[in-house]
Amino acid sequence: MLPNPFARPIDRRQLLLLAGGAIAAAGFAPAILRPAQAAEPTHTLTPGPGRARMVGAEYPETTVWAYDGRVPGPEIRVRQGDRLRVAVTNRLAEETTVHWHGVRVPNAMDGVPHMPRPPIAPGETFTYEFDAVDAGTFWYHPHIRSHEQVGRGLAGALIVEEREPIRVDRDVTWMLGDWRLKNDASISDDFGNMMDLSHNGRVGNTVTINGRVLDEVPVRAGERIRLRLVNAANARIFGLRLQGLRPQVVAIDGHPVEPHEPADGRVVLAPAMRIDLVIDMIGAPSDRVTVVDDFYRGLAYRLVDLAYGAERLRDRPLEAPIGLPANPVPEPDLSGAVRHEVTLGGGMMGMMAGAMVDGKMTDMRTMMRSGMAWAINGVAASGPDGHGGGHVMDPIFTLERGRTCVIAMANDTAWHHPMHLHGHTFRVLSRNSQPTRFREWQDTVLLAPRERVEVAFVADNPGDWMFHCHILEHQVAGMMSTIRVT
Ligand code: C2O
Ligand code: CU
Repeated sequence: MLPNPFARPIDRRQLLLLAGGAIAAAGFAPAILRPAQAAEPTHTLTPGPGRARMVGAEYPETTVWAYDGRVPGPEIRVRQGDRLRVAVTNRLAEETTVHWHGVRVPNAMDGVPHMPRPPIAPGETFTYEFDAVDAGTFWYHPHIRSHEQVGRGLAGALIVEEREPIRVDRDVTWMLGDWRLKNDASISDDFGNMMDLSHNGRVGNTVTINGRVLDEVPVRAGERIRLRLVNAANARIFGLRLQGLRPQVVAIDGHPVEPHEPADGRVVLAPAMRIDLVIDMIGAPSDRVTVVDDFYRGLAYRLVDLAYGAERLRDRPLEAPIGLPANPVPEPDLSGAVRHEVTLGGGMMGMMAGAMVDGKMTDMRTMMRSGMAWAINGVAASGPDGHGGGHVMDPIFTLERGRTCVIAMANDTAWHHPMHLHGHTFRVLSRNSQPTRFREWQDTVLLAPRERVEVAFVADNPGDWMFHCHILEHQVAGMMSTIRVT
């Protein structure tokens, strides 16, 4: 057995699935396997203080906030169509929630404080309950004071397996983390400082894979790996190059895309985004492949090496198809669509003179004094996940249920913004008026400075849904809104 993070022994859950398959084949409905009382949780999560060894053995452990004492939190793995009941017991000294990023859950299970449920108080337990309607790579994290709660370590992967997965030798998750550590490996506690809020967010100085700084990851010549990348960083955008390999992108934000090599050979992953790669290890035994992150100009670094062992698994790459089955997402009907414009403003080196804050027109300098720096359509929002803690935002627009909506976003700032919509998945239609090649389904779309992006989705999930930048410092500093579906 290979060491972590690539090794994944068959676990009890997979054995259960095999048993389920046998029962289904014998003519019983798979639903018969579900427990009769809805009350039993399928999973538990306990956010609380913890300690993690993130950097080398010569450094002390890092005090973190963690799910079940682990960074990242436990990987939750279910099968498409399963019902999850996750009992969350809050052992933090402050309120928390769990948001199931990218999962199309009912509004009350979305984990946004007071929209509509209150957060989980210290010592309390709340059970989130929802169906895993879509297969794919998702993740979970708190949605209250997220810039600090996520920044201190609260994040985990949620993998929903396809009913018939594609054939690979190993299915591997890399939760990419980014930390601002001090010399003694403790987390720098300068959360929410104005520099981070008004520039590119809290970009740290230590990048981890599954909670550790890794030097190398073992691979085998000839094997096919499905690598699920999750960007769990507050602010860092990754641009990964796997030198000498030809990774195929098979899913973005959990949803299948026509398999293709990433543009310019670089896998770009903004905060909260996921990309599933299928990689054939075409090197020879004892080769090494370096994975480089060169997203920020002039700041390229080596993330990790893929180190081939002496063994060769097969001579030629597998021929099995790598296209994933589509998820049941309703197709937008562009002919009957309503169109809404969304303008992102603010930040340093921007043009924004001021914005509405708590119903008052406020100039930029006054905004910055109260920790605000960004706006969506001229409004800098301070709740429910911002400084306003607890006050609910008025929607920027309301959509009739079942209607297709096109959002035309314009980034009027000098900074990147990964914009995330809750409760839905959208197709990315165009960038700067050029149609996208794959009309990708995404829940988080990265806008480069001054870029314009159009997305479309069917507003089929009723409720008030957050629509915000996933650079968590931008979110807390105002780049946050809600969209209502009635
Ligand atoms: Cu990943 Cu509004 O969340
Ligand atoms: Cu932003």
